[in-house]
Amino acid sequence: MPILLRKLIAPFTLVLCCSFCAVPRCSAQTDLSGYWGVRTPNPGGDGTFRDTYLELHQTGEEITGTLLRRPNGIPIKGTFKDGAVHLETVPPPPSATSSNPARPPQRPLVYDGTYEDGKLMLTSRGRFGEMKSTAEKVTKEATLPPAPLPLPALKDLPDNGLARTPPMGWNSWNKFAGRVDDASVRAMADAMVSSGMSKVGYTYINIDDTWELGRDANGNITSNKKFPDMKALADYVHSKGLKIGIYSSPGPKTCAGYEGSYGHEVQDAKTFAAWGIDYLKYDLCSDLEIYKDDAPTLQAIYQEMGQALQETHRPIVYSLCEYGRAAVWTGWGEKSGGNLWRTTGDISDRWESMDRIGFSQIKLASFAKPGHWNDPDMLEIGNGGMTADEYRTHMSLWSLLAAPLIAGNDLRTMTDETKSILMNTEVIAIDQDPKYMPVTSVSSEGGIEVLMRPLHDGSVAVGLFNRTGAPTEGRFMRSSLPQTMAGKKLDVRDLWAHAPAKMDGDAFTATIPSHGVVLLKIKTR
Ligand code: GLA
Repeated sequence: MPILLRKLIAPFTLVLCCSFCAVPRCSAQTDLSGYWGVRTPNPGGDGTFRDTYLELHQTGEEITGTLLRRPNGIPIKGTFKDGAVHLETVPPPPSATSSNPARPPQRPLVYDGTYEDGKLMLTSRGRFGEMKSTAEKVTKEATLPPAPLPLPALKDLPDNGLARTPPMGWNSWNKFAGRVDDASVRAMADAMVSSGMSKVGYTYINIDDTWELGRDANGNITSNKKFPDMKALADYVHSKGLKIGIYSSPGPKTCAGYEGSYGHEVQDAKTFAAWGIDYLKYDLCSDLEIYKDDAPTLQAIYQEMGQALQETHRPIVYSLCEYGRAAVWTGWGEKSGGNLWRTTGDISDRWESMDRIGFSQIKLASFAKPGHWNDPDMLEIGNGGMTADEYRTHMSLWSLLAAPLIAGNDLRTMTDETKSILMNTEVIAIDQDPKYMPVTSVSSEGGIEVLMRPLHDGSVAVGLFNRTGAPTEGRFMRSSLPQTMAGKKLDVRDLWAHAPAKMDGDAFTATIPSHGVVLLKIKTR
């Protein structure tokens, strides 16, 4: 029946139903109370679906309920009136999710649609534009995560010898999200070489979430139609002198709702090795619905895949992504075989996000070491949401932190400015310093942060950052230099101006643009 006609007769249907509400069949048709499975085709035309579950309660025309997420669901409110359904999540107030007032409140997820033949035909708007979903009633059991599988006994995995300096490369998520495909990955490999990025150290081409389809009859993970032949793609990336990375989750579903490695860890590690994969990002996601997030549990979860990767005997960098839960940097991340671990939630291409994440990392720097790095998330440089000064701050800060330098932009269309930021070899050399010594805070006053990191050749890198909204003077005192440099003549170089700089007497002073940086390398003569 056409929707318009259905809408026109819906009020009469309701009236009829109401006057016969003792008839169960009739009231069952118009009462949306119960559990619903919402199936949404994933964006990117890869033929996969995302399933989410709602629990709804209807009173008259009012609906309340929950978008079922574990451990905590998200409240829903809405209406069901004249056959038209409106549902929206009620995000928690900003103070409940963030201590940072600059962080915008979460936007509600809004569904609008109709009730037809026992189904809800819903349209929602989100990050990927308009999405069409179909919801059907399901049992409560269908909404529950699978029973937990036993986890391995804890042990310390040996160091795999990889990532002696922070990994450098590119990842698809920040720019492409669900639209990544074989052609775009090949194009990024081409551009990494033609732009000169591979020459200055960028090596890994990493496919993030949304490549997965499901499992074949033997339980082997398969790629969806965006990636017709993973082995051929890996061969192509290798033919460019580069390495290739992939993504999975220890849970049944990835964060974007695709097939995860749950219960197939060893099998998936073998598949990745057979495809020629060199790097795995392993993203906790739906495993949080099954297990606790304390340190021993997370260690066991990550150890399971860490061991499976090591047993393939292929060198595969192991990137833990569990958003800094249970202080992963304090030791268990390394024990589980991790070469790097995310320390925060997702970055976005906004000053507030990068600033908040970047400057919160200094206290963690002493936990990093060769082979085992803190990962404050991928770079947003070149994605357009920040100014060039802000992107120079991003690059400088990540390099002082010895963070992985994983570009997240479209490498085919970089401006000269973006190239000059991502490919500043003197800044990259700080990140990649062969003798890791952690950055420390020299001073933090009035929005000016001064950071210093000793380097292998006896020099130091000094960053003067202006986090305020106006140009501000920053100062670095000679007395803050390590004792070994005391009383010696100094060479000071400005790494963004690509020029010598001067200490005036006992201090270096400069006016730093709003959200900008002056990055110095200081060595004795
Ligand atoms: C999580 C991760 C992101 C990205 C997405 C993919 O949010 O933190 O970096 O991998 O999942 O779904």
